[in-house]
Amino acid sequence: NKRALLKGKRLLISAGPTQEKIDPVRYLTNHSSGKMGYQLAAVAQELGADVTLISGPVHLEAPVGVTKIDVTTAEDMYEAVTSRYHEADIVIKTAAVSDYTPKVTYDQKMKKQKQPLVLEMVRTKDILKTLGEKKTHQYLVGFAAETEDVLTYGKGKLQHKQLDMIVINDVSKPNQGFHADTNAVTIVTKKGQEQTLPLQSKRRVAEEILRVISEEVD
Ligand code: PMT
Repeated sequence: NKRALLKGKRLLISAGPTQEKIDPVRYLTNHSSGKMGYQLAAVAQELGADVTLISGPVHLEAPVGVTKIDVTTAEDMYEAVTSRYHEADIVIKTAAVSDYTPKVTYDQKMKKQKQPLVLEMVRTKDILKTLGEKKTHQYLVGFAAETEDVLTYGKGKLQHKQLDMIVINDVSKPNQGFHADTNAVTIVTKKGQEQTLPLQSKRRVAEEILRVISEEVD
């Protein structure tokens, strides 16, 4: 029964961008709209899973029946995801998490100055890598947003972050990756599956990703 493919499975899905605050009026972010992650959440819920969606700031409605938790910064997302990790069977990290955050957040709006502005940034925690290191029973899925040598870099993340699956997308091409309603991805699994999907709706991509996951988890 296709409808019950993920029945009884607890899924934790992250989606959207993070916002890293510079001062009360400015922040650093990226182009993620949340569409890919929200489609995964919607399809997983329809397949019978118990879905928790950890979402950065986006303009989308949570799919019906999905528990949504809103976060803003990479640090918030780290807390929200890692604190729920033990109770998840499958984790999919679609979110575009900032790799850097300003070293100092100013309490007041920064004033213009004559000199060029130099902003010092520090690294954020790599959530997915932490999950890979702490893995017990979970099936762990990462996304890789690449602009060159996409398969090489993507497969590197599968190994380096100790994942069960990586979904690789080339974000330099039009109509795929950030913001678009369509995507083209290559799915690579630790067990050795490799599948390149043509450009199609993010809903169809989500269905395919979840089908491969359901085959690999018992
Ligand atoms: O939201 P949309 O507009 O629909 O766009 C979809 C998407 C392009 C955002 C999505 O398909 C995608 O590729 N998501 C991953 C974006 C990303 O941050 O890729 P990355 O290659 O930089 O990171 C690799 C993985 O590590 C990701 O699973 C990411 O969630 C995770 N990561 C990254 C940095 C960090 N500090 N912690 C993390 O967990």
